[in-house]
Amino acid sequence: MDLSAIRIDTHRLQKDLVHLGNFGEVPGGGLMRTALSEADLEARRWFKSRMEEAGLGVREDAVANLIGRLDPPAVSSSSSCIAIGSHIDSVPNGGKFDGALGLCVGLEAIRAIRESGLSLLCPLELLVFTDEEGSHYAGTFGSRAMLDLLLEGEIDRSKNESQPSLAADLLRIGKDPARIAEAIRRATEFRAFLEVHIEQGPILNAMNIPIGIVEGIVFLERHIIRVVGQSGHAGTIPMHLRDDALVKAARIITAVSDALVHFGTDIVGTIGNLQVHPGAFNIIPGRVDMLLDLRAMDELTLASGRNTIRKIVESEKNVQTELILSKGGISMDGDLMKLIEDSCRERGIPCTRMGSGAGHDAMSFQTRGIPTGMIFIPCEKGKSHGPEEAIRWEDATRSAQVLADAVVKIGIVEREERNISSQGCIQAKPCSRR
Ligand code: GLV
Ligand code: MN
Ligand code: MN
Repeated sequence: MDLSAIRIDTHRLQKDLVHLGNFGEVPGGGLMRTALSEADLEARRWFKSRMEEAGLGVREDAVANLIGRLDPPAVSSSSSCIAIGSHIDSVPNGGKFDGALGLCVGLEAIRAIRESGLSLLCPLELLVFTDEEGSHYAGTFGSRAMLDLLLEGEIDRSKNESQPSLAADLLRIGKDPARIAEAIRRATEFRAFLEVHIEQGPILNAMNIPIGIVEGIVFLERHIIRVVGQSGHAGTIPMHLRDDALVKAARIITAVSDALVHFGTDIVGTIGNLQVHPGAFNIIPGRVDMLLDLRAMDELTLASGRNTIRKIVESEKNVQTELILSKGGISMDGDLMKLIEDSCRERGIPCTRMGSGAGHDAMSFQTRGIPTGMIFIPCEKGKSHGPEEAIRWEDATRSAQVLADAVVKIGIVEREERNISSQGCIQAKPCSRR
């Protein structure tokens, strides 16, 4: 297959990445672009206009995912599509490339394919997912909503009292929370899903390899730990008579960290947020809500870490742990890994296979049995989820090239095999049907 006509425009890609990085930028270089904030909405409006300029038809679904679509002429619009996607929202004080890279690279790959004159015989989609980072609740919201993976009542909950629920924020932007099921799509609508992302860790950078091919994504759990004590006057109650919720929380945090260190490198746990109630100089904390994120590459280690934490929590009185979501723990599609690897080899780009300790929207697709692949590029010093996040532009270009090649190969395989079933699935590789 001659792919030499697919040429990535590095300058155009870099310009998009720099421009997108301006939305929500704060002094110090970080991004405050949490999901459905004004900065997020502005960034999405701009990106939508870039998709339209590139010739994509763009619509917004019931949970505010943006769906850019290209239907090649003479291709039935009911054939399964190749989807590329990622997210525009950031963590608080996040970096400019987490999520944004995958969207700008996806857009550039689509433009390069169009300009190459090669015609795919299946539709292409570029998907911008809502609230990947979990600023409202458990994260990967838009992709889970699209693939019917939301938990019952999840959009009405919020992880702390200072954050509106997704239902409230969807309402604020003109969506009807009662209609979120309209965002659900069948797995058979997708031929494949591909996501480009920064690695968010140190491996590629240390090895000086520009492309990582993701083999699997960690098992990931999110818990809320509620510690209850007795609030009271900070000046009048002697120390030995107190039941201070924050003091108990501090003991739990230290014990969890110490215990997980003993597991070695197989598991990581982070208590990343505390809400102290009522929260004043002069009131003994009566309640603390903590967010715990727990991850491991294998399920047994995760279960064992969870048990250890449960024992720590039970050693304090009046503490409850609620598991709000388990996700991840998936292997990527073997054929797509090979196809991406071959594309790297053909372009002379060094690559390596690796696991992902970060969660991604790609998990939702593979969970539904849709063949899913992920392409990583290094981030400087392995830093992510902070203002220091940085990439080399040439790595972004390489990832766009490999992505475009992979998309064309998948699109053209569909034509060459001519074995599309009535549901639009390739018969050689059954689509999972729910
Ligand atoms: C996504 O950024 C994650 O939490 O892994
Ligand atoms: Mn992230
Ligand atoms: Mn991300």
